[in-house]
Amino acid sequence: MAILNIVKDDDPILRKRSRDVDCVDQRILTLLEDMKDTMHKAGGVGLAAVQVGKLKKVIVIDTGEDQLELINPRMLKKSGKQEDVEGCLSCPGVWGITRRPTKVEVETLTRDGKTVRIKAEDFLAKAICHEMDHLEGKLFYDEWVRKLTDEEMEEIRK
Ligand code: NI
Repeated sequence: MAILNIVKDDDPILRKRSRDVDCVDQRILTLLEDMKDTMHKAGGVGLAAVQVGKLKKVIVIDTGEDQLELINPRMLKKSGKQEDVEGCLSCPGVWGITRRPTKVEVETLTRDGKTVRIKAEDFLAKAICHEMDHLEGKLFYDEWVRKLTDEEMEEIRK
């Protein structure tokens, strides 16, 4: 287990596109475990490998209800629209309203190297979209609806 350093949004690496994982080997499995430890310690619900300085298409998500590992994920379908509060471990203290699909279907590799399809809705769909944007070098505030006001942030901190 290792806690990795989470890069902040002034780091240009966050604007780079991640590359496909060629082979799910021990290094990728270790990366997945380290990313989970790092995400949990930081109190986040998702983390992309680029946020720990690795330009690989690897994502971990833990919403409390659902735990996901995504390797080379590909968006197959999205539908619906939701506007909700979002933040990012690379952008501490910044919160905003984003517009995301309510339903997504994603194809991904598993840690066993199998290709599977995952359907997700609502909060999990939002988290998947947020993390997949990281793989393209995008950040959640690039196209957000608006930043939260100080009063709204106070409410969240409670
Ligand atoms: Ni993020």
